[in-house]
Amino acid sequence: MQAPIQTTIAPLNYLQGLMLWIVISSLYACGGSGSSSSDSQRQPIAGLETKALLGERLFSEMDLSLNRTQSCATCHNPSHAFVDNRLNTEGLIPAVSVGDDSVSIGDRNSPTITYAQFIPEFRFGSRSRFNSQQSDYLGFIGGQFHDGRAANLQVQAEAPPINPIEMALPDRASVVDRLLENPEYEQSFQALFGADVFTSVDGAYSALSESIAAFEQTHPLATFDSKYDRSLKGELFLTLKEALGRALFFSQTDTNCATCHQLRINSSQTETFTSFEYHNIGVPVNQSVRNQNAALLDDGLLLNPAVDDFNQRGKFKVPTLRNAAVTEPYMHNGVFRDLTTVIKFYDHFHSFSQFLVNPETGELWREPEIPDTVSLLELNDGDSLNQQEVEAIVCFIRTLTDARYEHLIQGKGIVCEDS
Ligand code: HEC
Ligand code: HEC
Repeated sequence: MQAPIQTTIAPLNYLQGLMLWIVISSLYACGGSGSSSSDSQRQPIAGLETKALLGERLFSEMDLSLNRTQSCATCHNPSHAFVDNRLNTEGLIPAVSVGDDSVSIGDRNSPTITYAQFIPEFRFGSRSRFNSQQSDYLGFIGGQFHDGRAANLQVQAEAPPINPIEMALPDRASVVDRLLENPEYEQSFQALFGADVFTSVDGAYSALSESIAAFEQTHPLATFDSKYDRSLKGELFLTLKEALGRALFFSQTDTNCATCHQLRINSSQTETFTSFEYHNIGVPVNQSVRNQNAALLDDGLLLNPAVDDFNQRGKFKVPTLRNAAVTEPYMHNGVFRDLTTVIKFYDHFHSFSQFLVNPETGELWREPEIPDTVSLLELNDGDSLNQQEVEAIVCFIRTLTDARYEHLIQGKGIVCEDS
């Protein structure tokens, strides 16, 4: 299992890079003889001195979409925990994103990409669980996308610009042409990846994805400064309700959350709140986004080209719960609007559950989209909760919000403060 690394060193790397650049550029300046034009082309551009800085700029570059209306940041907004918070006609954050053509939709919810830097490369393997109720896990782990079909961040970043329902450019060559329209990009790519970076389309495309992936691995995308992290450092105390939620969440007997949403044995500041395992937790179809093709089912992990085992059908990667309080709606298809609903949904697997009705529809929970692979062993574990305990878990998940997104948390009738 790949352990999260300390990310606080990332800004230092920037600084080191910057200092190195200052030293190198002053050497050039002192050279006196005046550099040739091809040399000067290889000078980094101010503000784009590192791959990560270039990647940050490219992440918000609308010119990388066909109609120039969409960038990565459109569906992964840095000021909203890197999800798509464009409101729909009902004034709600939609379950799925609209593409650059302003009509196409996929049927999956845009996940947060905060903490995505800790998702290990997609692989099959075992993982020891420290939850005494469960045996160890043997199965697929990690990878980017809900079905892990991109091995890592760089491979993932190559997909959206040429995805017809996202940024929609016809091919890699057209993406590279868009880069070359901008002399700043041309010069930066050459400075960071070598003067010959544009001699092959694939070389330039991979420099693009490498830069974006470098940005996605920087400190701002994994700040570990939530209330929960601050409480571990002794900087604050959780409220009684938050602390009850924490106890329930990590409990080995009362709930099953930790089986799938805890990576490390000791509650630690680098906890990702996902084990990166794959499970079918019985999420129903989101009919509102299936109007176009109601008969279609989302096979989840089975749609990953590296997977052909039918038993993997309907499984999805366990998502991080960091920032989940501000990344509604929930699940791969955005079928649930509120965290309270999510917790009650989990509860309905227990024999004595009092939450037999989906509070958002007023109807009984609908059938799982793919009923035959549901992880019942894990989901049946634990006891049924009461309303106060449901709210406590919601309050605990709110404490997992990065400091800069705390202002986005909505009360939704649940008070977490001590009275
Ligand atoms: C039209 C909206 C849209 C655009 C534009 C978009 N994404 Fe996404 N992104 C999504 C959706 C939806 C998913 C989940 C898709 C799936 O699992 O099949 C996703 C998944 C991801 C993931 C995987 C996260 C995880 O936890 O597995 C990463 C990383 C990511 N996107 C980065 C990017 C980058 C980088 C760009 C620009 C090059 C980009 N996205 C452009 C909607 C978008
Ligand atoms: C069997 C493993 C498993 C267990 C047990 C489990 N989860 Fe999950 N959780 C998942 C998976 C897998 C998903 C994503 C499902 C999907 O997208 O269809 C998920 C999704 C979620 C989400 C939605 C996140 C988002 O961004 O959409 C929340 C919140 C959540 N779980 C909280 C909990 C809590 C709280 C508990 C304990 C009461 C719990 N989970 C128990 C596997 C598990």
